[in-house]
Amino acid sequence: MERLPGFRDFYPEPLPHQDVGSADARSYLFDKWRGTARGYGFREYDGPPLELLELYTLKSGDEIVGQLYNFVDKGDRAVALRPEMTPSLARMVAAHERNYKKPLKWFSIPQLFRYERQQKGRLREHFQFNADLFGETDPAADAELIALLIDTLRAFGLTSEDFVVRLSSRNAWQEFFSKRCSDPARAYEFYQIIDKLERDEPEASRTKLSALGFSRDEVTHFIGAGEPTAELQAIVNNLAARGLADFVKVDYGIIRGLAYYTGPVFEAFDRRGEFRALAGGGRYDQLVNLISGGRFDAATNRVRGGKVDLPALGFGLGDVVLLELLKSRGLLPGFQPRIDAWCLIEDETWRGESLRLIQKMREAGAVVDYSLVPAKSDKQFKRALELQARHTLKVERDSAGAGVVRCKNLATRQEQVVAGMDAVRALLLG
Ligand code: HAM
Repeated sequence: MERLPGFRDFYPEPLPHQDVGSADARSYLFDKWRGTARGYGFREYDGPPLELLELYTLKSGDEIVGQLYNFVDKGDRAVALRPEMTPSLARMVAAHERNYKKPLKWFSIPQLFRYERQQKGRLREHFQFNADLFGETDPAADAELIALLIDTLRAFGLTSEDFVVRLSSRNAWQEFFSKRCSDPARAYEFYQIIDKLERDEPEASRTKLSALGFSRDEVTHFIGAGEPTAELQAIVNNLAARGLADFVKVDYGIIRGLAYYTGPVFEAFDRRGEFRALAGGGRYDQLVNLISGGRFDAATNRVRGGKVDLPALGFGLGDVVLLELLKSRGLLPGFQPRIDAWCLIEDETWRGESLRLIQKMREAGAVVDYSLVPAKSDKQFKRALELQARHTLKVERDSAGAGVVRCKNLATRQEQVVAGMDAVRALLLG
């Protein structure tokens, strides 16, 4: 039986086949993601992988809605596997934000599902590190989020020569749009053309833009000028104060495909342009209001009337492109598991005592393994070597007939015979 296209199996290393994922590499990513997020004071949350379809049709935008894994469940509900985390998070925050001090700084590592055309860097399932902040409109919050993204990528050994965060502004584009087009309902259509500008054939985008009354030249001129808005300048200055200026550049070639963004937006790319986007995010100040019952008011160009109104911003960093980039730069470590000791049971009458020793050492925090069933001594020793165990342990009797433990350091070949659990623990864990 084959697995579905666009989905991955994750095996422990060494990998049996190049076409499978590595569970070790995945844990490595997750540990680093958790580490940097916690270092910035973010708290972990999670939500359900299945949501009401309506959560996404409300404001994620046509592109992602076209990629949904959706169906009607046995209770006649139209549901979808989550293609992104942001709507679930906005729903959760709208429901219980009162219980938390602002700003909320939350992160999550959901598995997401999108029925995408399979291509390099894009699968039908991926894991995404999400970090989001609620309750702050100051650009200092945008800078904090971007700094977290930069430091997360740096934690893997990537430098400003490897990646760049391209920073843009929906506000700047909104202004550009509304000066030339009087129909605000078509703004999202326009944003989507800009989002695909670098991937579409020039002729195709020219035709789409002229249907909205824009010329491709005026658009590329606006991008080329790259005049930062005051808000973007404040973000850049904030990042420069941290010594992170080399990692960011103002670039209106970015606009983001999702419909809910409202202010500064950004995407991270590898510098050489070999891969798809590593990460993307931005401000979405009206989504919580919308999800808590608000409606779009064309007169003010704002969502109004929702039970909760909280400014928000965040980003998602996917595992697929990040892994490709780390592999190509030789930045993935080897994943040999740590084994502190292999317990040899050469005499079966010592199995009970050996199990007691193994139990005690594991309780003390050592990684200990052994043969579950009787096996020849040389086979047991071979296994210890294969696993690159740091020590072997063997329970035996000393000349006076007392139980002792023979501990061998497999690197130095030094042997010591000790009595008592504390002495063994000291040998294994230092
Ligand atoms: P997104 O740009 O759709 O944003 O996804 C963020 C990142 O997830 C992408 O840059 C990419 O690395 C990865 N990604 C997306 N789709 C796939 C796929 N099919 N296969 C592999 N990797 C993929 C969002 O999802 C927003 N909800 C992020 C966000 C959080 N905005 C605010 N808070």
